[in-house]
Amino acid sequence: MTGNLNPRDRLIVALDVPTVDDARDLVRTLGDEVTFYKVGLELILSGSIDGATGLGLVSELIDKGKQVFLDAKLLDISNTVERSVERVAELGATFLTIHGTDLKTMKAAVAGRGQSGLKLLAVTVLTNLTQEDLAEQGISKTPAEMVLHRAGLAKEAGFDGVISSGQEAAAIRAATGENFLIVTPGIRLPGSDAGDQQRIMTPERAIASGASYIVVGRPINQASDPKSAAATFVERIADATA
Ligand code: C5P
Repeated sequence: MTGNLNPRDRLIVALDVPTVDDARDLVRTLGDEVTFYKVGLELILSGSIDGATGLGLVSELIDKGKQVFLDAKLLDISNTVERSVERVAELGATFLTIHGTDLKTMKAAVAGRGQSGLKLLAVTVLTNLTQEDLAEQGISKTPAEMVLHRAGLAKEAGFDGVISSGQEAAAIRAATGENFLIVTPGIRLPGSDAGDQQRIMTPERAIASGASYIVVGRPINQASDPKSAAATFVERIADATA
């Protein structure tokens, strides 16, 4: 499904910056090198000196011909999820995240997406959660087992895919088949700073493990030359798919 995509379109740059103005600057700097951006909670909740909001930026990016992954990680009662997803579909985003905890929530999101082109991705188990954290929630499965369980629920609900670390991508790919999207953060080039990420992977390995898209934040947005850093990631994706 993603094999036909241009390598450039498989790179999603996380706009993890404090303000809409910072995000606009980064998008300007990256120019044609980047076609797909992730807007997360920090930016959704922030504003700019001209009164623009994070959600306004989503529309700005779409108007510029960019694709947007709205990483809103929704979880609420079915009616609220369905109506919220309808609003995101109207906005014209390409990807939206929903917590993949249960079928009821995910089916509500599928109803909200309707006939729009919005693709729904499930957050399976947040990567900062350990076995002990799951036990605290009354869950006896390991994080890896829970990821596979919830990926199965997401597929059953009619979701397009999941967010997953590179480590889990191969098992999810084997369990869900070729057409299910696997969107993978925690990507680093060999020898670069991991930051707070624990389970990192190179772009080549992530793609070889079954990732459809990779999400890259700090290695691009904190680089001294973000555009050339983005070009390096695109080249690595191209090498992995050649
Ligand atoms: O800077 P870095 O490349 O680590 O950023 C990765 C991006 O992917 C961040 O926006 C982070 O919130 C997001 N993410 C993640 N792990 C997840 C889900 C999202 O790192 N499981």
